Amino acid sequence: MSHPDNHSPQSPPPDSWHRRTLEHKSALFAVATTLAISVGGLVEIVPLFTVSAGPQAMAEVTPYTPLEQAGRDIYAREGCVQCHSQMVRPFRAETLRYGEWSRAGEYSFDRPFLLGSRRIGPDLHRLGGKYPDVWHYEHMKDPRSTSPGSIMPSYPWLLEDKIDAADVQASMTALSVFGHYTQAEIDAAPQAIAKQGEEIVGRLRQSKVENIEADHEIVALIAYLQRLGTDGKKALKNQVAQSEGAETTGSAQ
Ligand code: HEC
Repeated sequence: MSHPDNHSPQSPPPDSWHRRTLEHKSALFAVATTLAISVGGLVEIVPLFTVSAGPQAMAEVTPYTPLEQAGRDIYAREGCVQCHSQMVRPFRAETLRYGEWSRAGEYSFDRPFLLGSRRIGPDLHRLGGKYPDVWHYEHMKDPRSTSPGSIMPSYPWLLEDKIDAADVQASMTALSVFGHYTQAEIDAAPQAIAKQGEEIVGRLRQSKVENIEADHEIVALIAYLQRLGTDGKKALKNQVAQSEGAETTGSAQ
């Protein structure tokens, strides 16, 4: 049977206090709703600004080297984040496949963050050290050559285009606002880039890669990919070592 003024059984009757003083006064109602929602939001957000509620910093997690930062900029520019996440979740299937799950403290120097929300390709957070440099070189040139049937696009221009140390220094200057780099490190970036680049080039040449220079974009990208997740792995290993040390001392008493 339909009700005379057709309001649903849940809504207050037409002459209720709530309807008269709030719902019928739209401006007041808007203010009251905004207040209620703001209080709800603040209660959740404000505690996060205190240090103890935030992510625990990890001493082993340090800023990217200039070359790795250059590689990170290329990763962002090429949109790798559209297909790859950088966060291993604490589920058995993920830790079996990728390794240790990701801790918040590992992202201290990821600005802007590249967590990603899609996994068309695998998660890359524990990628560092998984493959030799030459694997990445071949994979970026033609993903099908290392991973038959891969739908990942090829990035042949990374093997030809070069990074500009001045661009890297500009990135570092921007990040120095957050304390990632000192002015001395920014000034010394060109030498640091050349040094780390030559190490990678040396390994690539050993693997019979030709026409490769230390300032090729692929070299910077490889440096970045090989760094991913390695600081966190070190930190977690040290934590385990410390807690085992504590246990040994405990049982000796
Ligand atoms: C269209 C989606 C897509 C994009 C864009 C993409 N990838 Fe991939 N990627 C994949 C897929 C799918 C795989 C798995 C097959 C393979 O190994 O190629 C993969 C695999 C990888 C792997 C190997 C991971 C492992 O653990 O075996 C790396 C490294 C990688 N991608 C890096 C990159 C980088 C760097 C970029 C950006 C320059 C990028 N990908 C862009 C889809 C993508």
